[in-house]
Amino acid sequence: MRLDYFIATSTELSRKQAKQAISRGEITVNDQPCKSANTRLAGNERVARNGVPLVLPGERYLMMNKPAGVVSATTDSDHPTALDLLPADITRNLHIAGRLDADTTGLLLLTTDGQWSHRITSPRTDCPKTYRVTLNEPLPDSAAKELEQGVLLHNDPKPTRPARIKTLEERIIELTISEGRYHQVKRMMAAVGNHVEALHRIRIGQIELDTALKPGEYRELTCQEKGSLD
Ligand code: URA
Repeated sequence: MRLDYFIATSTELSRKQAKQAISRGEITVNDQPCKSANTRLAGNERVARNGVPLVLPGERYLMMNKPAGVVSATTDSDHPTALDLLPADITRNLHIAGRLDADTTGLLLLTTDGQWSHRITSPRTDCPKTYRVTLNEPLPDSAAKELEQGVLLHNDPKPTRPARIKTLEERIIELTISEGRYHQVKRMMAAVGNHVEALHRIRIGQIELDTALKPGEYRELTCQEKGSLD
Protein backbone atom coordinates (compact mmCIF):
# COMPACT_ATOMS: atom_id res chain seq x y z
CA MET A 1 0.00 0.00 0.00
CA ARG A 2 1.26 3.49 -0.83
CA LEU A 3 2.02 5.79 2.10
CA ASP A 4 -0.36 8.57 0.98
CA TYR A 5 -3.20 6.03 0.68
CA PHE A 6 -2.41 4.71 4.17
CA ILE A 7 -2.52 8.25 5.61
CA ALA A 8 -5.77 9.13 3.83
CA THR A 9 -7.40 5.89 5.01
CA SER A 10 -6.24 6.12 8.61
CA THR A 11 -6.96 9.85 9.17
CA GLU A 12 -9.57 12.41 8.19
CA LEU A 13 -7.22 13.76 5.49
CA SER A 14 -8.02 13.55 1.78
CA ARG A 15 -5.42 11.95 -0.50
CA LYS A 16 -4.22 15.44 -1.52
CA GLN A 17 -3.97 16.61 2.10
CA ALA A 18 -2.18 13.36 2.96
CA LYS A 19 0.45 14.10 0.30
CA GLN A 20 0.84 17.63 1.69
CA ALA A 21 1.24 16.30 5.25
CA ILE A 22 3.93 13.92 3.97
CA SER A 23 5.84 16.66 2.18
CA ARG A 24 5.58 18.93 5.26
CA GLY A 25 7.53 16.21 7.11
CA GLU A 26 4.69 15.31 9.53
CA ILE A 27 4.92 11.58 8.81
CA THR A 28 7.38 9.02 10.12
CA VAL A 29 7.70 5.40 9.07
CA ASN A 30 9.41 3.22 11.69
CA ASP A 31 10.39 6.43 13.51
CA GLN A 32 12.21 7.83 10.44
CA PRO A 33 10.81 10.93 8.71
CA CYS A 34 9.43 9.98 5.30
CA LYS A 35 8.71 12.61 2.68
CA SER A 36 7.89 10.38 -0.24
CA ALA A 37 4.15 9.84 -0.86
CA ASN A 38 4.74 6.82 -3.09
CA THR A 39 6.68 4.87 -0.43
CA ARG A 40 5.35 1.30 -0.43
CA LEU A 41 4.36 -0.20 2.92
CA ALA A 42 4.46 -3.94 3.54
CA GLY A 43 1.94 -3.66 6.39
CA ASN A 44 4.10 -4.14 9.49
CA GLU A 45 5.61 -0.64 9.61
CA ARG A 46 4.91 1.83 12.42
CA VAL A 47 3.45 4.91 10.75
CA ALA A 48 2.87 8.07 12.77
CA ARG A 49 1.71 11.62 12.13
CA ASN A 50 3.29 14.22 14.40
CA GLY A 51 4.30 11.38 16.68
CA VAL A 52 0.79 9.86 16.93
CA PRO A 53 0.68 6.23 15.70
CA LEU A 54 -1.82 5.62 12.87
CA VAL A 55 -3.73 2.42 12.17
CA LEU A 56 -6.12 1.51 9.39
CA PRO A 57 -9.80 1.55 10.29
CA GLY A 58 -11.46 -1.73 11.10
CA GLU A 59 -10.68 -3.45 14.35
CA ARG A 60 -9.34 -1.18 17.10
CA TYR A 61 -6.51 -2.01 19.50
CA LEU A 62 -5.66 0.30 22.39
CA MET A 63 -3.51 0.33 25.49
CA MET A 64 -4.41 2.33 28.59
CA ASN A 65 -2.52 3.10 31.74
CA LYS A 66 -5.38 2.22 34.07
CA PRO A 67 -5.54 4.40 37.16
CA ALA A 68 -6.61 3.09 40.57
CA GLY A 69 -10.33 3.41 41.33
CA VAL A 70 -11.45 2.61 37.79
CA VAL A 71 -13.15 -0.71 37.11
CA SER A 72 -12.28 -2.97 34.17
CA ALA A 73 -15.81 -3.17 32.84
CA THR A 74 -17.74 -1.66 29.99
CA THR A 75 -20.49 -0.37 32.31
CA ASP A 76 -20.86 0.01 36.06
CA SER A 77 -23.52 1.96 37.88
CA ASP A 78 -21.33 2.82 40.90
CA HIS A 79 -17.79 3.38 39.65
CA PRO A 80 -16.06 4.96 36.66
CA THR A 81 -15.04 2.37 34.07
CA ALA A 82 -12.03 2.20 31.77
CA LEU A 83 -14.35 2.95 28.85
CA ASP A 84 -15.53 6.15 30.56
CA LEU A 85 -11.96 7.45 30.14
CA LEU A 86 -12.13 7.18 26.34
CA PRO A 87 -13.82 9.54 23.88
CA ALA A 88 -17.34 8.26 23.23
CA ASP A 89 -16.77 7.98 19.46
CA ILE A 90 -14.16 5.23 19.81
CA THR A 91 -15.79 3.03 22.46
CA ARG A 92 -18.25 1.24 20.16
CA ASN A 93 -17.75 -2.56 20.40
CA LEU A 94 -14.62 -2.16 22.52
CA HIS A 95 -14.02 -4.71 25.23
CA ILE A 96 -11.24 -5.32 27.72
CA ALA A 97 -8.69 -8.06 27.06
CA GLY A 98 -7.68 -9.17 30.57
CA ARG A 99 -9.28 -7.33 33.44
CA LEU A 100 -7.58 -5.72 36.41
CA ASP A 101 -9.00 -5.19 39.90
CA ALA A 102 -10.22 -1.67 40.63
CA ASP A 103 -7.17 -0.95 42.82
CA THR A 104 -4.67 -2.42 40.30
CA THR A 105 -2.96 0.05 37.96
CA GLY A 106 -1.13 -0.24 34.67
CA LEU A 107 -1.42 -1.95 31.32
CA LEU A 108 -4.96 -2.57 30.10
CA LEU A 109 -5.61 -3.68 26.52
CA LEU A 110 -8.90 -2.80 24.84
CA THR A 111 -10.02 -4.05 21.46
CA THR A 112 -12.96 -4.75 19.18
CA ASP A 113 -11.31 -7.98 18.00
CA GLY A 114 -12.68 -10.94 19.95
CA GLN A 115 -10.28 -13.50 18.48
CA TRP A 116 -7.30 -11.36 19.39
CA SER A 117 -8.44 -10.84 22.98
CA HIS A 118 -9.15 -14.56 23.28
CA ARG A 119 -5.46 -15.24 22.62
CA ILE A 120 -4.61 -13.00 25.59
CA THR A 121 -7.12 -14.41 28.03
CA SER A 122 -7.40 -18.08 27.07
CA PRO A 123 -5.48 -20.35 29.47
CA ARG A 124 -4.57 -22.47 26.43
CA THR A 125 -2.38 -19.84 24.81
CA ASP A 126 -0.11 -19.34 27.82
CA CYS A 127 0.18 -15.57 27.24
CA PRO A 128 2.50 -14.21 29.97
CA LYS A 129 1.44 -11.18 32.05
CA THR A 130 3.98 -9.35 34.15
CA TYR A 131 3.15 -7.38 37.30
CA ARG A 132 5.20 -5.16 39.56
CA VAL A 133 4.09 -6.22 43.01
CA THR A 134 4.71 -4.20 46.16
CA LEU A 135 4.52 -6.49 49.16
CA ASN A 136 3.83 -6.02 52.81
CA GLU A 137 6.97 -7.96 53.73
CA PRO A 138 10.10 -9.08 51.89
CA LEU A 139 9.64 -12.35 50.00
CA PRO A 140 11.93 -15.10 51.39
CA ASP A 141 13.70 -17.31 48.84
CA SER A 142 11.65 -20.29 50.02
CA ALA A 143 8.38 -18.45 49.20
CA ALA A 144 9.73 -17.33 45.82
CA LYS A 145 10.59 -20.96 45.02
CA GLU A 146 7.10 -22.12 46.01
CA LEU A 147 5.53 -19.50 43.76
CA GLU A 148 7.85 -20.41 40.91
CA GLN A 149 6.79 -24.05 41.18
CA GLY A 150 3.05 -23.42 41.70
CA VAL A 151 0.97 -22.91 44.83
CA LEU A 152 -2.53 -23.90 45.91
CA LEU A 153 -4.90 -20.96 46.15
CA HIS A 154 -7.67 -20.72 48.72
CA ASN A 155 -10.79 -22.57 47.48
CA ASP A 156 -9.08 -23.74 44.30
CA PRO A 157 -8.06 -27.40 43.90
CA LYS A 158 -5.54 -26.88 41.07
CA PRO A 159 -2.08 -25.46 41.79
CA THR A 160 -1.05 -22.35 39.87
CA ARG A 161 1.18 -22.76 36.85
CA PRO A 162 4.89 -22.09 37.33
CA ALA A 163 5.57 -18.36 37.70
CA ARG A 164 8.72 -16.27 37.20
CA ILE A 165 9.95 -13.90 39.88
CA LYS A 166 12.54 -11.15 39.77
CA THR A 167 13.31 -9.23 42.94
CA LEU A 168 13.60 -5.49 42.27
CA GLU A 169 13.78 -4.14 45.81
CA GLU A 170 13.35 -5.64 49.27
CA ARG A 171 9.54 -5.54 49.07
CA ILE A 172 9.07 -5.09 45.31
CA ILE A 173 9.10 -7.98 42.87
CA GLU A 174 8.28 -8.53 39.22
CA LEU A 175 5.98 -11.52 38.84
CA THR A 176 5.15 -13.18 35.51
CA ILE A 177 2.19 -15.54 35.30
CA SER A 178 0.36 -17.06 32.36
CA GLU A 179 -3.07 -17.48 33.93
CA GLY A 180 -5.75 -15.01 34.90
CA ARG A 181 -7.63 -16.51 37.81
CA TYR A 182 -9.76 -14.29 40.01
CA HIS A 183 -7.48 -12.01 42.13
CA GLN A 184 -4.68 -14.36 41.16
CA VAL A 185 -1.64 -12.35 42.22
CA LYS A 186 -3.17 -11.31 45.54
CA ARG A 187 -4.18 -14.91 46.27
CA MET A 188 -0.74 -16.24 45.28
CA MET A 189 0.92 -13.87 47.73
CA ALA A 190 -1.61 -14.77 50.43
CA ALA A 191 -0.79 -18.46 49.78
CA VAL A 192 2.81 -17.80 50.90
CA GLY A 193 1.77 -15.68 53.89
CA ASN A 194 2.39 -12.26 52.33
CA HIS A 195 0.10 -9.44 51.27
CA VAL A 196 -0.02 -7.23 48.17
CA GLU A 197 0.13 -3.52 48.94
CA ALA A 198 0.19 -2.31 45.33
CA LEU A 199 -0.14 -4.05 41.98
CA HIS A 200 0.82 -2.61 38.61
CA ARG A 201 0.74 -4.53 35.31
CA ILE A 202 3.68 -3.69 33.09
CA ARG A 203 3.57 -6.23 30.24
CA ILE A 204 1.24 -8.60 28.36
CA GLY A 205 3.07 -10.92 25.97
CA GLN A 206 5.60 -8.59 24.36
CA ILE A 207 3.46 -5.47 24.78
CA GLU A 208 4.95 -3.14 27.39
CA LEU A 209 3.03 -0.35 29.06
CA ASP A 210 4.17 2.86 27.36
CA THR A 211 5.83 4.84 30.15
CA ALA A 212 4.84 8.09 28.40
CA LEU A 213 1.19 7.36 29.25
CA LYS A 214 0.08 9.04 32.46
CA PRO A 215 -2.62 7.29 34.56
CA GLY A 216 -5.87 7.41 32.57
CA GLU A 217 -4.17 8.05 29.22
CA TYR A 218 -4.37 5.68 26.27
CA ARG A 219 -3.00 5.24 22.77
CA GLU A 220 -3.50 2.99 19.73
CA LEU A 221 -1.23 -0.04 19.59
CA THR A 222 1.32 0.05 16.81
CA CYS A 223 0.99 -2.61 14.10
CA GLN A 224 4.03 -4.29 15.58
CA GLU A 225 2.53 -4.42 19.09
CA LYS A 226 -0.78 -5.69 17.78
CA GLY A 227 0.99 -8.26 15.57
CA SER A 228 3.10 -9.58 18.46
CA LEU A 229 -0.04 -11.28 19.81
CA ASP A 230 -1.32 -12.59 16.45
N1 URA B 1 -4.10 -10.43 40.04
C1 URA B 1 -4.79 -9.76 41.00
O1 URA B 1 -4.88 -10.18 42.13
N2 URA B 1 -5.38 -8.61 40.63
C2 URA B 1 -5.30 -8.06 39.39
O2 URA B 1 -5.83 -6.99 39.14
C3 URA B 1 -4.56 -8.77 38.43
C4 URA B 1 -3.98 -9.96 38.77
